[in-house]
Formats: sequence, C-alpha cells, structure tokens
Amino acid sequence: MLEKIIIIDFGSQFTQLIARRVRELNVYCEIHPFNNIPETLSDVKGIIFSGSPYSVRQEDAPQIDLTRFHQKFPVLAVCYGAQYLAQHSGGEVQASSTREYGRANLNFVQSANKLLKNIGVDSQVWMSHGDTITVVPESFEIIASTDSVRVAGFHIKDSDTYAIQFHPEVTHSTDGKQLLENFLVDICGCSQNWTPDAFVETTIAELKEKLGNDKVVLGLSGGVDSSVAAILLHKAIGTNLHCIFVDNGLLRKDEYAAVLEQYKHLGLNIKGIDAKDRFLSQLAGIKDPELKRKAIGRVFIEVFDDAAHEVQDVKWLAQGTIYPDVIESVSVKGPSATIKSHHNVGGLPDFMKLKVVEPLNTLFKDEVRRVGKSLGLADFILGRHPFPGPGLAIRILGDVTAEKVAILQEADAIYINNLKEAGLYDQVWQAGAIFLPVQSVGVMGDERTYENVICLRAVESVDGMTADWCHLPYPVLAKISNEIINKVKGINRVVYDISSKPPATIEWE
Ligand code: XMP
Repeated sequence: MLEKIIIIDFGSQFTQLIARRVRELNVYCEIHPFNNIPETLSDVKGIIFSGSPYSVRQEDAPQIDLTRFHQKFPVLAVCYGAQYLAQHSGGEVQASSTREYGRANLNFVQSANKLLKNIGVDSQVWMSHGDTITVVPESFEIIASTDSVRVAGFHIKDSDTYAIQFHPEVTHSTDGKQLLENFLVDICGCSQNWTPDAFVETTIAELKEKLGNDKVVLGLSGGVDSSVAAILLHKAIGTNLHCIFVDNGLLRKDEYAAVLEQYKHLGLNIKGIDAKDRFLSQLAGIKDPELKRKAIGRVFIEVFDDAAHEVQDVKWLAQGTIYPDVIESVSVKGPSATIKSHHNVGGLPDFMKLKVVEPLNTLFKDEVRRVGKSLGLADFILGRHPFPGPGLAIRILGDVTAEKVAILQEADAIYINNLKEAGLYDQVWQAGAIFLPVQSVGVMGDERTYENVICLRAVESVDGMTADWCHLPYPVLAKISNEIINKVKGINRVVYDISSKPPATIEWE
C-alpha cells in the first residue's frame, strides 16, 4: 500500500522544496493548497503544514480546520504553520521587532524529543519570518530555542503534533533532513519504500489495469518526460502504445534521425513523420515570437491528429505531464500567469475526444530521470538539456527560413559538441546557440564581410524558473567561436550572453 504524506500549502516559496526533501527520504507525498484539501485522507501517514507569505495576524490569512488533523494524524507545522497552530491553540503571535531572516543556531534542544533525535545544541537552522510566537499554552512544551527565538520548536503534549519556526527543507538548516526523517520514520511510521523501482512496478500495474486492451497514442518529443512516459506505457501495454514523433524541421542537427533510431532500438511502436515543409511554410514571414509559437502549436496538432487518426479505435492520449505542471495549475495562487504562451505543443486538441493518461504526473523532474534510469533509458536521452517545444524557431530572432535554420543547426552542433568534448555538457543546465537578426562587418582574408551574428547561451538552473549564466572557460569559448566563424558560412561574429534570469529569460524569444 502506498504510504502518503500530505503537505498543506499556505503559499510558501519553499513548499515544493519540502515535498522534494520528503521524497528524497523515499516517502511519497502530495502538496494540496490549504483551500482545497481532499475530503478523504485514506493512506495518509502524516501531515505537514507549510510556511506562508502571510502573517497569521492578517485578516485574510489562510485558514484551515485544525480539528481535521490534530490528534488524528501526526502533524509537523513549519513556520507559518507553527504560528497558526500556536495562535489557534491559545498561544500568542506578535510581530518581531526585527525580521528574523537567515542563519541562526539552536541554543536549546530537548534531545529526548522524538522530533529532535540526533540533533545537537548549536545545530544551524534557517529562519524566515516576521512574526514570533510569544506565549504558548500549558499544553505545549518548548523543544528548541535560539538566542532570539524562544519558541523555535514546540510539541503539543500527549499528541503527535510538532511545530518548528525554522525551515528544515532548506539546506542551510544543517540537520533539516534528520529532522524530517525523524518525523517521517519515528513519528509517522513511514517505511521509506517509495523508490524509483517501486514506482515503476506499481505504475506499470496501474497502467495495465486502467488501459486494459485499449490503444493509446503518445507524441514523443525526444525529451526526457515523454520518453520515460513512453517506456512505462510500453512495458504496460506493449504495441497498443502508438508513438508519434514529428520532425518539425526545428530540431537540432541530426537529432530527428538519432532520436528515432534510439526509440526504435528500445522496441517502441513508433511512427516518424517528416513535416518539415509544412511547419516552415506556415512560419514564413512571421516575426512575432508568440505568433510563431501559435503557428507551430497549430501545425503540430494538425499533423499529430492526422497521424493519430490512422490508428484504428484509439481511446487514450498519453502525455508526459510532470508534477510541477499539476501543482502550478491548482496552486494557492491559482494557475500562474504565463509570461510566454509556453507549453508544450502537443496538448489535447478538443476535437480528438480522447481520455488522457499521464503516468508521470506525480513526479518531479529529477525523479523522472531516476525512474528513466531504473527503466534502462540511455544517458543520451536522460541527460539531455531541456529544449523548447517550438525548437530553433524561437532561437532565430525574427522570421524563420530554411537557410537560417541550417546555419543555426551547424553553429549549435559545434557549440554543443565542444561542450561535450570539454566535459562541460553535464555541468550546464541548458545551452544553445541563437541566431541574431543583426549583420555586422568583418574581414576574412582580404575581403570585407557583412554577415550574421551567433549568440551562445549557457545557464545553470534547477528548474528554469531562475537561472544564472555559466562562467564557461575562455579557452573553450575561444575554440567554439573560432570553429563557428571558420566553418559556418554566413556567420562572422560570435557573442556570449552574460544575462541572468531574472531579469532576462533563458530563451531570447
Ligand atoms: P524562459 O525563456 O522562459 O525559458 O526563461 C524557461 C525554460 O522554458 C523553455 N521554454 C519553452 N519550452 N515551449 C516549451 O516547451 C516554449 O514555448 C518555451 N519557451 C521557453 C526554455 O527552453 C527554458 O528551458
């Protein structure tokens, strides 16, 4: 039986991090917004309350019904959660004279308390709060303090309800992982058996049960998510899974053939469709990035729909949706405003009327990789950088032509191969070349040239939401620049993008 921890999200920026830490301890957990908690909580072994940008003293602060949890499940309340619990149990919360933010050290630890097993006095913790708990009721015992925060941790006597003012999920809390493990194992009794292998086994069994003899179509992109989804489904339903891989002409150099080959090698029932011309003709003359995305999305759906219709009696559309997409769409803040009309071309066209199956919709990206590894997927696919659905079309600023695509593919291939040769590819989160709509003067031999500029972009990131430009070594940049200018006709200048996100974005369009 799947043991589950529920994290109740009050809107903290760290909520996802709590989930990741719990899962790193091989315990399955789900995040639910405070205003949308499931009616039934079967199989739940414990509850975690997250922090929040709100103060419990604000009138519109998030509220929950504590009687659903206290004395019914083990509870760990973090930061806002701790203050909320204190305030609603007869304690008092007041504004601190100074905001407590950053590192602090515990100066008192009640080490006999189950939550604090193996955590010593002096342990460093990470604080981030503007309020502080000033009065606690009789039923509370204080289990940890720092110099400035007397109630850094408390336990409600005769119950499995615990609270801490600091953030155990942040790595600056050096014993945070230990604390979470104490909660999960010693207090909730979790058996830590949620591993990639276990996920694979249960998911395949569930897919078999759900899909029976039905046929399923899946659009593969060459990326990690759709590939892992495909292998799982393939293991569950074999050739009833019909994969479709569309060449939109906007992929990296030689990528279509290489990826198709890899998929065939894995035994997938896959159809490759060469739709290069269809995409390019629909993109002709379009300069606006959003219009390009829309055109690509539209053509993709048409091509995919044609191919899917060739499969008789198909009932399901499989998608590689992952957990962060799901959380986004139901988060406390509601579906987040899209800055770019992102998202993966290949969504469900209304008229297809298929049921949707999303085998990865409970996993974070790194978990998808671990599952992929456990399924034996090649590093070539697992380790590849993220690549946007609209592909090189949004890395060619301005209008897209076959000639520009060919130039960019050459330059990009030189760039990526050099990163691989220098052993840097795996250290970079995402890299790619961008074709700038700028011509500049150069000189080659005795001749004056007037040609285009290629920009190189390489970033470090965790999830693409924020990113830092990579400090690639000068000799590697020099070699790449030299090779591009010498080998790629039409390019006489190479520049390197040194902007972080925010305020810049990773892609240029
Ligand atoms: P930005 O440019 O917003 O990119 O910093 C963040 C991440 O999203 C990818 N990206 C896209 N992915 N369709 C996609 O599937 C898109 O339209 C799109 N635009 C950006 C980008 O490559 C980076 O990984």
